[in-house]
Amino acid sequence: QNYTERYRPQFHFTPAKNWMNDPNGLIYHEGTYHLFYQHNPGGISWGAMSWGHATSSDLVHWEHQPVALLARGYPDNITEMFFSGTAVFDAQNTSGFGTDDKAPLVAMYTSHYPLAQTLPSGKTVDANQQSQSIAYSLDDGMTWTTYDSVNPVILNPPEEYSDQIHDFRDPAVFWHEETQRWVSVMSLPGLRKLLIYTSFNLKDWELVSEFGPVNAVGGVWECPSMFPLPLDGGEELKWVVQISLNPGGPAGNTGSGTQYVVGHFDGKTFTPDANSVTQSNWVDWGPDFYAALTFGGLPVEDRVDIAWMTNLRYGGATPTDPWRSAFTVPRRLSLKTINGRATLTQEPILGEADYSSTHWDTLPAGSTKLDFTEKALDIVLSFSESESTQFGVIVRASSDLSEQTQVGYDFEKKEVFVNRTVSGVSGFDDTFAGVFSAPLDSIESIEGKAAFRVLVDWSSVEVFGGAGEVTLASLIFPSDESSDVYIFSTGGSTNDVEVKTASIESVWV
Ligand code: FRU
Repeated sequence: QNYTERYRPQFHFTPAKNWMNDPNGLIYHEGTYHLFYQHNPGGISWGAMSWGHATSSDLVHWEHQPVALLARGYPDNITEMFFSGTAVFDAQNTSGFGTDDKAPLVAMYTSHYPLAQTLPSGKTVDANQQSQSIAYSLDDGMTWTTYDSVNPVILNPPEEYSDQIHDFRDPAVFWHEETQRWVSVMSLPGLRKLLIYTSFNLKDWELVSEFGPVNAVGGVWECPSMFPLPLDGGEELKWVVQISLNPGGPAGNTGSGTQYVVGHFDGKTFTPDANSVTQSNWVDWGPDFYAALTFGGLPVEDRVDIAWMTNLRYGGATPTDPWRSAFTVPRRLSLKTINGRATLTQEPILGEADYSSTHWDTLPAGSTKLDFTEKALDIVLSFSESESTQFGVIVRASSDLSEQTQVGYDFEKKEVFVNRTVSGVSGFDDTFAGVFSAPLDSIESIEGKAAFRVLVDWSSVEVFGGAGEVTLASLIFPSDESSDVYIFSTGGSTNDVEVKTASIESVWV
């Protein structure tokens, strides 16, 4: 297989074939990044949810591994599906799953039971109940054993939410050093509420607090997670809660999205900063960013986020084959004070590439064709104050420009935008052909100038604006021949334009 099928991402992760949704169990362990993901091993649509698996030594090149957790009873008699969750390294063997010379990895995930049944542990569940279970690995994540004698370790939501047993999911577990406890955050999606549990052994869990609803509540809350980050690269640590919601994403996007809240966590309770709950904070302003999760097992300043790059409105209908769905490029997160608020900033992690740059003292109004035909590109644009109303780049354009995707900066609206109204195939969803934008009034600079960066792949553009304080992930399905690239200046000329580009090699060769 050479990963050159139509629309096949060249530097974004995809399964070789079949369906993928959320990233799960992201962990750096013993020199290897493990990427697990919601996967249907038997088809190109959602179903038979299992954990697919891939490994990497650099977050750029991935090696596919056998399915880590296969739906129980697959394929014909499925009694348990493995929904989203996370994995930790239990270095001190608190769980007791380890041996004298091997500490375990432990995964915590949602068991979705399609049928009412009595489990091997003797516990009984309702049809379509969701509970939280654990599994362990003694070979560094390659094979997993479910804890059948006790699973699920959290059978039901708390008594007062007992009407939510069909919607209780997505545990995100981490070690909290100060209190010497495991902490797990999970969601009651329909109530827009997170539940925080703690444990000494990953097996016995106690509910310690709740969080939400706050900020964006226009959809169900899924895939929550929580992690610390240094503020402005200093000593002070803040905590970030990341929550996906469907629908109710950023304005202009009628589907799903991912928000974050910054605050303080004492091992039990998350207390948001007052100025982090006055408006919705989008991790990404594009239409295609969901179920984001960060890697565990890395130093505190090294937080890497990956999201399922699609929208729940049409995630099941995108025109790819024999796989469906890609992940965003891994993004290194930082927390910077911008306009007085602790703000997430993101930087893409890519392999080595050869950059070349071109400079215009004055870029005239209109479109200027660049000399590329590669279809996987990194384009870094910088520019100064100008008479123009818009400046940007046109990618994946046909020779007559009838097909194209625009990424630009609007000087009047002070917004970065992606226009995919004529980007290619879009008939699978009536809202796909739209314009998506993110506010960027505080353009921080790359080398002292206003800047944004566009990663173009065979079926996506990802935009990083300013210092990465706004991003937009957006799928596109252009025809194969549409490979022209232009820069444009609208309503006048743009000054001091610098365009730095590199072709990005396939990571699959
Ligand atoms: C999010 C989600 C999760 C769930 C998983 C099932 O896309 O709905 O809440 O665990 O997908 O595949």
